Amino acid sequence: MPFPSFREFLQRVEKAGDLLRIEGADREEDIGALTEIISASPKHPMLLFDKIKGYPQGFRVAAKPLAGVKRMAMALELDPELSHVELVKGWKDRMKTFRPVPPKEVKDGPVRENVFGRGEIDLLKFPAPKWHDLDGGYYIGTGSCVFLRDPEGQWTNMGVYRVVVHDAETLGIFINHIQHGRLILQKYWAQGKNCPVVLSFGQDPAVFLAAAQREPWGVEELSVAGWLRGEPVECIKGAVTGLPIPAHAEIVVEGEIPPFERESRPEGPFGERTGYYATGLRNEPVIKVKSLMHRNDPIIFGEPPLKPVPGMDHFGIPLPAAAVWSALEYAGVQDVKGVWLHGPFATVIAIKQRYEGHAKQAASIALGVRATLAMSRFVIVVDEDIDPANLSDVFWAVTSRCDPAVQSEILKDFPTSDINPRVPPEERAEGRFVSSRMIIDACRPYRWLEKFPVSNVMSAKRKAEMTKKWQHLLKELEK
Ligand SMILES: Cc1cc2nc3c(=O)[nH]c(=O)nc-3n(C[C@H](O)[C@H](O)[C@H](O)COP(=O)(O)O)c2cc1C
Repeated sequence: MPFPSFREFLQRVEKAGDLLRIEGADREEDIGALTEIISASPKHPMLLFDKIKGYPQGFRVAAKPLAGVKRMAMALELDPELSHVELVKGWKDRMKTFRPVPPKEVKDGPVRENVFGRGEIDLLKFPAPKWHDLDGGYYIGTGSCVFLRDPEGQWTNMGVYRVVVHDAETLGIFINHIQHGRLILQKYWAQGKNCPVVLSFGQDPAVFLAAAQREPWGVEELSVAGWLRGEPVECIKGAVTGLPIPAHAEIVVEGEIPPFERESRPEGPFGERTGYYATGLRNEPVIKVKSLMHRNDPIIFGEPPLKPVPGMDHFGIPLPAAAVWSALEYAGVQDVKGVWLHGPFATVIAIKQRYEGHAKQAASIALGVRATLAMSRFVIVVDEDIDPANLSDVFWAVTSRCDPAVQSEILKDFPTSDINPRVPPEERAEGRFVSSRMIIDACRPYRWLEKFPVSNVMSAKRKAEMTKKWQHLLKELEK
């Protein structure tokens, strides 16, 4: 059953016992800190902050709505009991059935419960949090969807880009140079025009996930969201921009982004998903807000980036991992058994080796996949007995099966993002964003596969039998 709004998704999560309500938090002191602590805990429920200090009851912040395999599976309408790799596979297989489901235009919707025009706009009334201690502002947009129309193609792009509140009518946005959103902005700016924009700060998971996906140029991501949901996304035509506005969104603004040369403001620093503040404080484009609308008791969708914690199921992993797996299949790489990412920097692929060079073939395809291109510096290929999502398994394979002199390769000058902390300061200053990539073949050498020492780890079958036989004892240990 699709979730037409974020609220319906939230209710489903609460029913599944995966939501923690928190009252009385301070947006400066508590919201970010609690999100970081609880996100690293084994259960990491979704957090819903209400009665935020200094803000009216009902003006809420949800944090990490899609963190964890369970909630991702719920959002994608897959089985919440799937393992990490099964979730990636489920999503990859579902992507094969994609057919666009275009949005449906409607006249009205809950997002218009409160509408403000020129002279009435107050962005400061929302409890935008300071997510990390050294952040240089209050970020209302961490899980926000940004709609921009290509002036030539007349299609609408969606992306997730961070958004800071500068003042009651002005926002700041960071869109890095490799995003389609940035290319669209530049087309308007090249003609000396302001770029019309719509931003949604709380929307159903399908819209968010479609925006987060790196779709090819020209793909209407709202039609991807419609397909994901199984029904069209209802949208109102924006009175100011003509852009689509999801009718069930929580908070939406319409506005314009003036050419960077004409207007920009300092933005950042902001703690990124790399675990660093790589971009620092520098000028970025601004959004002049012309219209604001929100539901009663609006909820900000907060997806603050955090340092990758091994074992923490960051929502951003399954989609790019599925994109890598699909690319491998499309390129004809046989017998891929699983794909997972460990933070933004490492892609792990498990294969059943069929011929010499199989691992290298898989790694070389993965290197160029857009979904991970900007950041994944290490591509590691492991055998089928290794769970690519299990970091200790992967580390064991790398350290025990890989002879670095013959099973690693380094390639230079791949495009990377500004948030990559390893870009040297002088290259950053020149606007040069490239970095090298390493392939680690952590498979047993194919040529003497049969002679490679046998592992002393018991088989999965035997482990299951023993666990069942001794369950009374093992249960005691779990207490
Ligand atoms: C939670 C989240 C936050 C993101 N923040 C940013 C950001 O601040 N700037 C950016 O350029 N990309 C950011 N991204 C990545 C883009 O949203 C993503 O690559 C998207 O597919 C880009 O779309 P586009 O190529 O159509 O512009 C973020 C992604 C997610 C999921």
